[in-house]
Amino acid sequence: MSDLKATVSETENGFHVEGYERISYGFSFLDGVFNPERNELAKMYQPWKRCLAIADANICELYGQQMRGYFQHYGIDLTIHKTKIGEKAKTMDTMLAICTAMNDFGIIRKEPVLVVGGGLITDVAGYACASYRRTTNYIRIPTTLIGLIDASVSIKVAVNHCGHKNRLGAYHAPMHTFLDFTFLRTLPEAQVRNGFAELIKISTCADLRTFDLLDQFTEKLISMKFGRADGSSQELIKAADEINRRGIHVMLKLETPNLHEIELDRVIAYGHTWSPTLELAPETPLRHGHAISVDMAYSATLAFMRKEISSEEHRRVLGLFSKAGLTMMHPLFTPELLVKGTEAIMKTRDGRLRAAIPYPIGSCKFLNDISAEEMNAALKMHMDFCKEYPREGAGIDAYVDSSDTGVSMEADEKDPVTGGMKIGGTFDAKAEMNKLKEEIAGAVGGNECC
Ligand SMILES: NC(=O)c1ccc[n+]([C@@H]2O[C@H](COP(=O)([O-])OP(=O)(O)OC[C@H]3O[C@@H](n4cnc5c(N)ncnc54)[C@H](O)[C@@H]3O)[C@@H](O)[C@H]2O)c1
Ligand SMILES: [Zn+2]
Repeated sequence: MSDLKATVSETENGFHVEGYERISYGFSFLDGVFNPERNELAKMYQPWKRCLAIADANICELYGQQMRGYFQHYGIDLTIHKTKIGEKAKTMDTMLAICTAMNDFGIIRKEPVLVVGGGLITDVAGYACASYRRTTNYIRIPTTLIGLIDASVSIKVAVNHCGHKNRLGAYHAPMHTFLDFTFLRTLPEAQVRNGFAELIKISTCADLRTFDLLDQFTEKLISMKFGRADGSSQELIKAADEINRRGIHVMLKLETPNLHEIELDRVIAYGHTWSPTLELAPETPLRHGHAISVDMAYSATLAFMRKEISSEEHRRVLGLFSKAGLTMMHPLFTPELLVKGTEAIMKTRDGRLRAAIPYPIGSCKFLNDISAEEMNAALKMHMDFCKEYPREGAGIDAYVDSSDTGVSMEADEKDPVTGGMKIGGTFDAKAEMNKLKEEIAGAVGGNECC
């Protein structure tokens, strides 16, 4: 929520307005947010006796009934607006359909919209809330690991436009965010792994303790859905909770002094220097988490080559990506791509590279002076290192599928709402996928998220 305070003064030939915006929003960890025994969410809607929820088709299918049961229990009328899934649906059309749903519902001043889903839906619906009546309150319930530890930590909301990712957007803080990690139970392992990469990012450059825990429990964290899958040990649950709490806290501490991203040396941009170019380079795009992992692993080798981190630390970083099944090297990560990626990112970073590297693990340094020769030498060294690891550094489930893109062969004929896809749906639409790739591959900066 935000509140603008400003004053006006007269100048010699006009007026001057000066003000500041007060931003205030909170997060609560709450497993079982739709459990009728937990009244925290209901309390926020009791004054209105009704709730408009925005959720994607998969969330509606998996959690729609539970949501209805919850609000019914508290005598609150629930209306759900269902959207399509996937990056293809991250458009103005989807955003405007949400605005229309708000209008039909007759959202009144201060009444919060409820947004439930992954980073995609919280971005699109958050942007609809930023726009509707210039600002509308909303409450966020992220349901993916990316959503829980990344997208819903920030106040950035956006849609793709004119071939550019997140080109139209706003900074719009929600009233509140409920962090319920039990949603991870139904999240496919590939999506958990994808989010794991962002936790490696935040810990490698900003929090050694989180890095240690990720390193200690890697495989179990992914396969047991951060301790939310049945049969998880208490030890794992405790470690996962500490990782999540610390990861979110560190990110908030790093980003809150820079909510509008004016400072461009950003620790959380570790892994986001060359990856925007790499992510969309393969015929089927890489998952975001895998693309940033290649960039992070390579940056760690670069740091090692420059003697900024020790051999032991370098091996720890590479070992973590390998254990997590994240991609450390890709055949299209070439000297040419490094040149292209460098040029593209410098345009968005005010003419400087600002490549974050661990210095040592748990802290960060920015490099601006890497020559092409040095980049290539590090690349060669990195390729040699990766050969020693399982799969020679290739990742598991590294490429996007229909659950990420919303693309399928029969798409709109099959189901106009979901685009034909459900969780577990098969990816069979290469041509459509390439079209999407072209649509979202911006001329500059590519698939930039951070
Ligand atoms: N605002 C930010 O700062 C920020 C940060 C990071 C990412 N993002 C954005 O987030 C988007 C990616 O988010 P994402 O990775 O969460 O993808 P997503 O929202 O597309 O979700 C991925 C898939 O998982 C499904 N899903 C969601 N929750 C589920 C659950 N609990 N169980 C089973 N299936 C579930 C979705 O329906 C979808 O098919 C991108 O558009 C990216 O730009 C924004
Ligand atoms: Zn990212």
